[in-house]
Amino acid sequence: MTLDPSVIRKDFPIFDRVIRDGQKLVYLDSGATSQKPNAVIDAESDFYRNHNAAAHRGAHQLAEEATEAIEGSREIVAKFLGAESEDIVFTKSSTEALNLIAYSIGSAPSGNRFHLQPGDEIVVTEMEHHANLIPWQQLAKRTGAALKWFEVDQAGRLDLSDIKKVITERTKVVAVTHQSNVLGTINPLTEIVKRAHEVGAVFILDACQSVPHMPVNVKDLDIDFLVFSAHKTVGPTGVGVLWGRSELLSDLPPFLYGGSMIETVTMTDATWAPAPRKFEAGVPNMAQIVGLGAALNYLSNVGMENIHKHEVALTKYTLDKMQEIDQLRIVGPTDLHLRGSAISFTLGEIHPHDLGQYLDSAGIAVRTGHHCAWPLTRKMGVPATTRASLYLYNDEADIDSLIAATKDAQKYFA
Ligand code: ALA
Repeated sequence: MTLDPSVIRKDFPIFDRVIRDGQKLVYLDSGATSQKPNAVIDAESDFYRNHNAAAHRGAHQLAEEATEAIEGSREIVAKFLGAESEDIVFTKSSTEALNLIAYSIGSAPSGNRFHLQPGDEIVVTEMEHHANLIPWQQLAKRTGAALKWFEVDQAGRLDLSDIKKVITERTKVVAVTHQSNVLGTINPLTEIVKRAHEVGAVFILDACQSVPHMPVNVKDLDIDFLVFSAHKTVGPTGVGVLWGRSELLSDLPPFLYGGSMIETVTMTDATWAPAPRKFEAGVPNMAQIVGLGAALNYLSNVGMENIHKHEVALTKYTLDKMQEIDQLRIVGPTDLHLRGSAISFTLGEIHPHDLGQYLDSAGIAVRTGHHCAWPLTRKMGVPATTRASLYLYNDEADIDSLIAATKDAQKYFA
């Protein structure tokens, strides 16, 4: 089946509105957050209208319905990732999920497999989003472990030439992004995961920019932990997902303490419920979790293979058109096999913020700046970039608008 964005867009009410003096919305900022289909908006609204009660608590019908709704979403997420539902933890964001792992590792006592101490090493890459860099850099500071990283070359690829020196017998944690939110680079996970496992390290995948765009199966990838974010996956804000291998979730200490994550409590101590409950203290973001289930059902109905193929074709169309523009530099790989649909660029001396504002005046939404990956933009030798990030509802007409307005901006700022 080929995906028809004009049909898809009918499911997303935001595309009915006009902006900036009556212009059609050209939304090219799905890397920051995706738009939401009616199915998601309706699922959230239906939860509040018909089933609202505190899940996992209460002895009444509504509480049972709320619990069933949450657990139903957990099963949908598990199926989407090729995982088991008891290994799916709901957090309030992917940022929180990454912090959860880092803080939990940081609190692991001596004797626990996650315990870190001076002499141990944590490995990341230079292309990490701040959410998958700062938790590790701060964990290194707290524990005395060393932080190491794979560098990025000027073509926007990871330099794995020294992989055995970067990931060593001392490495305990390797945390890598699947697809860079700035460069669009899709990383060669197999080699890194294999090396991490060779030395007994756990491998954590930041899949925020891949799960929305391509089929991702945790078993095929042979990874240990994965996080992704609902709001980039046509779902609501306020929900992140953490998947972990059962035996690892079982050994990982909890991060947040409170209601519903315990087995027993006395005035001086407590024991923990099994995962995922151990990591879900407090009343969950129920309507949002239900919305996430609806979002993944929506994407599954369209088909993740179809979405991926559509984005590959549209990325090619965009890169070809961009390469015709004088002074436009694509910051990231231009080879389609190495990249996804987040496309960053610079345009001569025009500051990305000025270009972003110019595009906005033409109804085109892009992101500008360092995209929460400051060390990476610094390494690529640019203060900031303009980023167009594509999704299932974008079409060639959106790209034509972007290209035309970019050329106009060039004349305007000349
Ligand atoms: N991480 C999001 C982005 O890349 C917000 O825009």
